[in-house]
Amino acid sequence: MKLIYRLHLSFGLLLIFILAVTATLIYPLLLDTLVENQRKDLREQASRLMTSTLATPLIPAKKTEPAQLQKAIPLAPTTQAVLAAPGDKVFFSTLTEEKAKELLDIAKQVNPQTGISQGKDGKYIVEKFTLPPQSGQPMSAITAVMATPLSEVKSMQLALFQRMMIILSIGGIMAFLLSMVITRRIVKPLTELRKELKKVENRNFNEVRLIRSGGEIGEVASSVYQLAGELDKYQLSQKQFFQNASHELKTPLMSIQGYAEGIKDGIFTGERADKGLDVIVNECERLKKIVTEMILLAKLESEDVIFNMDKVPIQNLINEVIERINPLAFKKGLTIESNCKVSEKNIYIVADREKILQALINITGNATRYAKKTISINAAAGDHTIDIEITDDGEGIPKQLLPFLFQRFTKGKGGETGLGLAISRAIVERCRGQITAANLPSGGAAFILRIPRSR
Ligand SMILES: Nc1ncnc2c1ncn2[C@@H]1O[C@H](COP(=O)(O)OP(=O)(O)OP(=O)(O)O)[C@@H](O)[C@H]1O
Ligand SMILES: [Mg+2]
Repeated sequence: MKLIYRLHLSFGLLLIFILAVTATLIYPLLLDTLVENQRKDLREQASRLMTSTLATPLIPAKKTEPAQLQKAIPLAPTTQAVLAAPGDKVFFSTLTEEKAKELLDIAKQVNPQTGISQGKDGKYIVEKFTLPPQSGQPMSAITAVMATPLSEVKSMQLALFQRMMIILSIGGIMAFLLSMVITRRIVKPLTELRKELKKVENRNFNEVRLIRSGGEIGEVASSVYQLAGELDKYQLSQKQFFQNASHELKTPLMSIQGYAEGIKDGIFTGERADKGLDVIVNECERLKKIVTEMILLAKLESEDVIFNMDKVPIQNLINEVIERINPLAFKKGLTIESNCKVSEKNIYIVADREKILQALINITGNATRYAKKTISINAAAGDHTIDIEITDDGEGIPKQLLPFLFQRFTKGKGGETGLGLAISRAIVERCRGQITAANLPSGGAAFILRIPRSR
């Protein structure tokens, strides 16, 4: 069932439940209140009746004409009244003699709590009012019995209850209509969001729109939009990766195949066959390097490689980089400088020593390829991080490469597999650091690794 219908159904059922509970609670309460009011009213009528009757000469009940009496003493049309002297001597009544006697009997069985008594033809609300004997009065100890049939009050209760239910139902319907409008407003963006998620499911990430809505739904919508953006970028980079990887692997394989077939078919013989075999060996070497680096990078990115994070002394780390690169630099006639700005000896970074060394060697190794004379490795300590800066005096990084420099298979003139910097970035980021590259105003390349400092 659709969410909107489920919400409507739940709200409708809730309203019906509230109305039913209100009805069951209010209906008997209404009767109690009406009976209580009626009793009070009967008492007042009794008191009025006695005062006015005592003031006028009393007429025996038989001769009393109810119409006349009611004219003289304002009694409610439904009120039945009997005035009796001790010994149930009815001397005044709005009823016939027989009925008056019956009412006096009913009055004797009245429940004092509820004021209700059972008569022959139904229940009555009865109030008894006795005036104590008074000196100088011709009559003494007069009892007034006032009654109203309960059915009268019940019909009043029903009428009131019906009105109340009509008002509550109108209110309920209005609340239901309002809830429909509100629910529609809440559910609409959810329906739209579902459409956008369908696009994500079908991998059409670039078609996902941002659904504008407030509150939590708005937050979810914006997360979905961002997620789609990230997935789109990821999909694109994966596509590029496979294109580049297949290209990188295909080139050496084609050359290996060409030379191998040439040698087999006797096209290349003697010195040319030897040269071909050299090419095959070199290309195999290159293939091995590409595959090894690709596997390492994949492992780094999938977090398969365990990083042993430790306190690494920065000075010691830089010294080791220089030691490892020195033979290559020496061969090329380059000097490696290290004017370390970290004055104190005991400054440490938090990293996996072997891996961060690998990252630094990749960058410094590149620098040996492009530097003219000098490579510098410096470190500067901040409050929470340490910057390791590797610069050279070469031509600098080609401008068009800069935005993609750390992506896989990005390589420029004189480059090799184009995976070294991607590996370095993966290592630095796994050490919770950042890596950036820029060209120096003087022309050379500068790489900065910002790594968390140990306290
Ligand atoms: N110091 C530098 N000066 C100028 N260009 C550089 C420098 N370092 C890197 N580059 C450019 O960046 C490219 C990518 O470097 P990266 O180390 O990722 O790959 P690579 O050195 O070509 O191959 P490998 O995977 O063997 O390291 C290089 O091919 C080069 O064009
Ligand atoms: Mg490299």
